[in-house]
Amino acid sequence: MDYIKVGRLNDFENKDIISYSIMGRFIAVVRQKGEELFAIEAGCKHQRADLTKGKIDGLIVTCPRHHWQYDLATGKCLNHESVDLRRYDLKIENGDIYVSLHPVD
Ligand code: FES
Repeated sequence: MDYIKVGRLNDFENKDIISYSIMGRFIAVVRQKGEELFAIEAGCKHQRADLTKGKIDGLIVTCPRHHWQYDLATGKCLNHESVDLRRYDLKIENGDIYVSLHPVD
């Protein structure tokens, strides 16, 4: 599986979510309090708004445009069926964050 370096662990000292543009895809890296990082699609399934600019309450994000909500841990859309966000594999090596563009099932 190919991984692309997107940032560093230090980027998360004062942030819990950052979006990265990787080969035309917006991917959010999320730090769950006290736990590992994970990567998830950052473009809203409605009209592609950047979900990292939305309201985040725990692991629930509300899209800044029309307020669709997603569970960032699972990618599930909470108010529309069959439009879940893709999750991506992530690894950390020597403080660098790498994301695979192959979605996790
Ligand atoms: S663009 Fe996200 S709800 Fe419309």
